[in-house]
Amino acid sequence: MKKGILICWIFALITNLFAQNKESIVLNPPSKDRGKTVINALSQRASVREFDTTRISHQDMSDLLWAANGINRPETGMRTASSAMNSQDIDIFIFIENGIYIYNAQQHILELVVNGDNRKIFSRQETDSHPPLICLLVSDISRFSRGENTQKLEWAAIDAGIVAQNILLFCTSIDMVGRPRAGMNKKIIKVLLSLNETQYPLLNIPISYKKD
Ligand SMILES: Cc1cc2nc3c(=O)[nH]c(=O)nc-3n(C[C@H](O)[C@H](O)[C@H](O)COP(=O)(O)O)c2cc1C
Repeated sequence: MKKGILICWIFALITNLFAQNKESIVLNPPSKDRGKTVINALSQRASVREFDTTRISHQDMSDLLWAANGINRPETGMRTASSAMNSQDIDIFIFIENGIYIYNAQQHILELVVNGDNRKIFSRQETDSHPPLICLLVSDISRFSRGENTQKLEWAAIDAGIVAQNILLFCTSIDMVGRPRAGMNKKIIKVLLSLNETQYPLLNIPISYKKD
């Protein structure tokens, strides 16, 4: 009997491990020798309204997330984007064709949050043509160890802006385009992502390769 329970337990553990693997995407290490210079990217950055629909390559997605808010000093866990009191309050959710994922910077992986294509919640019109990638920046203000709520929300907005600029400059540097947008249906997003009352969606950034 005991042996049977042990076998069931091992089976459940293995199944669970498989499920976890299936639900996360391991990103490639960042390739740090690519792209235009910062000054060149600055001279070309512009917000676009027209997006290509080609799927973003695995390497480009990996590099984009690392550039956005990845760990650039592993010995201390510090990030490419600065944050008030190093609170690291900004989470990046990505909306792609097969699901919504959250970027886990410590492990440099994407963790599945919701299955399926939900990019349409960012569109104003009925359409089947969506940018291949939409980054959603969410601040969890509970990570600020002090301050009144109004102060925390100010820090959150600034921190989101810094991550957004990392994304936009990286995109420009490899001929990708984007547009930072504060406009979105936050009510639907909060329900879809099961956000709690300290998590604030602040900016969404549709991204694609540059249209020919
Ligand atoms: C905080 C912020 C919020 C924005 N929100 C929207 C938005 O909701 N919808 C939109 O189409 N563009 C939005 N934009 C994009 C701006 O309209 C755009 O950056 C501005 O026109 C300047 O153009 P540029 O980015 O090409 O320099 C936003 C930009 C910022 C910085």
